[in-house]
Amino acid sequence: MSTTDPVTPPVQERPEWEALAQHREAMASETIRDLFAADPQRAEALTVDDNDLVVDFSKNIVTGETIGLLTDLARAVGLPQRIDDMFTGKPINTTEHRSVLHVALRASRDDSIVVDGTDVVPEVHEVLDRMGDFADSIRDGSFTGHTGKRIRSVVNIGIGGSDLGPAMAFEALAAYSDRDLTMKFVSNVDGADIDEALRGLDPQETLFIVCSKTFTTLETLTNARTARDWLLDSLTDEAAIGKHFVAVSTNAEKVAEFGIDTANMFGFWDWVGGRYSMDSAVGLSLMVAIGRDQFSDMLSGFRAMDTHFRTAPLDRNLPVLLGLIGIWYNNFWNAETQAVLPYSQYLNRFPAYLQQLEMESNGKSVDLEGRTVDGQTGAISWGQPGTNGQHAFFQLIHQGTKMIPSDFIGYLTPVREVGDHHLLLMANMFAQTEALAFGKTLDEVLESGVDVDVAPHRVFPGNRPTTTILAPTLTPFVLGQLVALYEHKVFTQGTVWGINSFDQWGVELGKVLATRIADDLSAGDDADLDHDASTSAAIRRFREANR
Ligand code: F6P
Repeated sequence: MSTTDPVTPPVQERPEWEALAQHREAMASETIRDLFAADPQRAEALTVDDNDLVVDFSKNIVTGETIGLLTDLARAVGLPQRIDDMFTGKPINTTEHRSVLHVALRASRDDSIVVDGTDVVPEVHEVLDRMGDFADSIRDGSFTGHTGKRIRSVVNIGIGGSDLGPAMAFEALAAYSDRDLTMKFVSNVDGADIDEALRGLDPQETLFIVCSKTFTTLETLTNARTARDWLLDSLTDEAAIGKHFVAVSTNAEKVAEFGIDTANMFGFWDWVGGRYSMDSAVGLSLMVAIGRDQFSDMLSGFRAMDTHFRTAPLDRNLPVLLGLIGIWYNNFWNAETQAVLPYSQYLNRFPAYLQQLEMESNGKSVDLEGRTVDGQTGAISWGQPGTNGQHAFFQLIHQGTKMIPSDFIGYLTPVREVGDHHLLLMANMFAQTEALAFGKTLDEVLESGVDVDVAPHRVFPGNRPTTTILAPTLTPFVLGQLVALYEHKVFTQGTVWGINSFDQWGVELGKVLATRIADDLSAGDDADLDHDASTSAAIRRFREANR
């Protein structure tokens, strides 16, 4: 920022923020129950659909006025301009001086997005085409390992954005995958992860995809080295590396240094953040599993949501509404966490995927002007698939003292019919959102014949906000739409809070200290330690145990 640039006021100093704070006071005595009773059109008015997604916001503590005030705020902070800046490649990741162009990863072949004088879309499609050819050759058996055997197991080695996206999407789309291929995802530096993953695999039939944007990540390189040793233990010939290792990275130099031929590297670009990269070459393992056509359908789903985000009016814009309603609870109702509850076993990993997307993006306390933020930013994001959560933590959501706004995600028809399971699954999902919104009053409890002394314990206060997201079924297209919905939600929120959703400096200090402590752990018993007393004691205990 130059000294002549106008200073953007903190969002909390804007009149639109104050208007929301006053509206919150007025809403204090409203209940979802009353809002529904007062307006028979409410469900319809607060439901927005786009392509395969229908999102019902009506079970939130909002009115038309709330949405109006929230969208006024979004306009005041310049959200439409920021969206345009992102889609046109402006360097909005200011702390890393980069464009933010994950939307280019799903651009159509005939689109054009110019960054620093270069149209990036042809490069994106060149990599997609190479990935497609490679995936085809694994799937049809024309690519063989060092001893001529067909590849039957694929192990993705990566962490964070180089793991969570492809691992989540592989599980989500398992029904569309080639069941003859065994897919594994190794991320943790805990040796148990790779040790368990490699059990039962035949090195002659195993391909490793080493996925790392930087190719400097300790966990990934350690796992990749262990994988290489495992392979060479059995195949003995260094030349085997070329047939059993490929890399996905932006860093050709480090890939070569590790010993993978850059001819076997699939590239991406520094304008793709790790947590926004599952539709880049980082999705190679997914593409091998589901094939290039289904991967392309997934990209179409992403693209459909991109178009919606860019063109829909703010008050009918799914990511904008999801983001703004999240801010309503986070900043005006003091909700500290938000739950994402997919009623789909296939979406088992979706909450974990969203944790990185949301919390690494918006877990910031310094704004774009370099000031400490005044108020809350990113909410804690968590969840489990239904119905499992119902038998674990739902008690607290229904009757606890905390407000936990929750997104419920479900499908009208199952990917594969199994008896009446799907009907029961969805009955539970709909029942939960109904119970959370409308609860059960003391009078209703007493009317049902419950003893007076137990009755207070059987009351459900209701007024617990939920958003319901429905799709016809879980397809690659729907998954793409869903992921892009949350990507753009995160961007909407970051824009309102005035923070950079695309850097992650907060992960650095721990990495530096871990490197230093690794040296301390392997040094002799008497080597000096320069840490606080607690950390030094832990290091000594470790040394003693590993003497
Ligand atoms: O430590 C956090 C992080 O940098 C994430 O942002 C990223 O997704 C992950 O590590 C993995 O990084 P890389 O792909 O460079 O190995």
